[in-house]
Amino acid sequence: MCFVTVRLEGNEKSKIDGLGQIQAIVCRQEMGSDGTYKESMRYLKPCTEHTFRGNYRKAKSGTMSLFITESKAVRFTCGVSPSLVWKLLEDVNSNTVNIGVAASLVGLTTPEFQQVLSPGTSKQQRKAFCSKTARLVSTGKECRGRIRKPKLASQELARLERLKTDCRGLNEIVLDSAWLRMNAGTVALGDADPLANIVSGGKISVGQGGGRHHYAEKKKRPQVKTMIKLVQEVVQSGQTIIDVGGGRGDLGIALAKTFPGHQVLVYEPNRPSCDQGRARATDLGFSNIAFKCEPLEALARKLGNPQYGVERQDGRRPLLVSLHACGGLSDAILEVCGTFKLTFCLCTCCFASFPQLRPKEVCSREDYLFLSRIAETNELVDGAQYCATRIINSLRVKAYLGSNWSVRLYRFPKEWSGRNFVIQGRCRNEGKCAVEMARPLKKSKLLEPANATPKK
Ligand SMILES: C[S@@+](CC[C@H](N)C(=O)[O-])C[C@H]1O[C@@H](n2cnc3c(N)ncnc32)[C@H](O)[C@@H]1O
Repeated sequence: MCFVTVRLEGNEKSKIDGLGQIQAIVCRQEMGSDGTYKESMRYLKPCTEHTFRGNYRKAKSGTMSLFITESKAVRFTCGVSPSLVWKLLEDVNSNTVNIGVAASLVGLTTPEFQQVLSPGTSKQQRKAFCSKTARLVSTGKECRGRIRKPKLASQELARLERLKTDCRGLNEIVLDSAWLRMNAGTVALGDADPLANIVSGGKISVGQGGGRHHYAEKKKRPQVKTMIKLVQEVVQSGQTIIDVGGGRGDLGIALAKTFPGHQVLVYEPNRPSCDQGRARATDLGFSNIAFKCEPLEALARKLGNPQYGVERQDGRRPLLVSLHACGGLSDAILEVCGTFKLTFCLCTCCFASFPQLRPKEVCSREDYLFLSRIAETNELVDGAQYCATRIINSLRVKAYLGSNWSVRLYRFPKEWSGRNFVIQGRCRNEGKCAVEMARPLKKSKLLEPANATPKK
């Protein structure tokens, strides 16, 4: 049995259209033998659109069910990951999926898709294709990948100016070399250096050459050091530090090393990353760090439940951190911090990923698409990328935090990253953590009970 949101077609449309979620029951043995069903189900993931056809029934309890007899993947949508596009490539290669179907899923023509599958194409080029295609699908623009336009059109600049008015009043600190020398430069990571966390062939190895090494040394390491410095500014004695979306623990492990008197919890729903991080922390002999293979949603539920001691620290608030929280994950983290009044240091990342995690729209959809496209574009002059990034982050702060917050935006130097900002927030209204928070939680998807099952 599987629960999906469906767009219905056919005769039943008039009866069901507009009802939103229904229970969709997949009866494998009833599926057509042409493989369409199997093909479609491979891509049943968030950020893909499917159509299903089947027999509709409404139970006495009011539950609506669709007994699916046909299904079809229609297209990949905004927020789709490069890894899903990679899977598509592999499936075409192994003849599991027809090339025409695959091309239409990502909005390309068959020859365009064919090109990347030619024997002369290297693995690197295929990976680049996947990233570009996923970005094209997400931003919905005719240019693939990052837009190389040197300047924005005058209309776009005017639109940016109009949106800028929404981000007045936030303190911003540009992290330059002087700040870094005086602050982050003094953080010693030792064996907790992210450079030691590069994976090669499934094993963690130290000092591999190539792009990942360069990235870890020149970008990730200074970002981790900066995050530690910013955490140092706000952390209270003995406070639990929770790293959300902590991946393989680049930040979490460095925090555990720097703050031995604090418990660090890394929440990372991706099992392999979580296992690797845990193994590394064990190898290093750190006892003040734990990895939980759980998403932010699980943490939010625990924060609202008095039975969880470590997450709630017996009534004291933990500190939330996150490094490179992609798209909607940043929004969701801010929502949780706003709701539970948690001090946080959040390093935002891209803008189109995980749209399903975004608790609400921070501006109109058109404005968001416009801003996120510019914020994702590296080559723009006149600081437009920076400006769009700042606007989105300011809108987020405004949307998710109340008035009682002291918030700072830290902007990384361009050589580390053009779009990563750190938002550091401290709720001025200190006191006991908990469910007795300022704002109601009812509507938040993040706080649905963990064991919620769809009603039958
Ligand atoms: C860009 S990675 C950053 C990883 C790590 N912080 C780092 O800097 O190396 C974003 C991470 O967020 C995780 N993630 C995705 N959805 C999440 C969720 N709902 N809750 C928590 N983490 C999530 C992903 O698995 C991924 O590891």
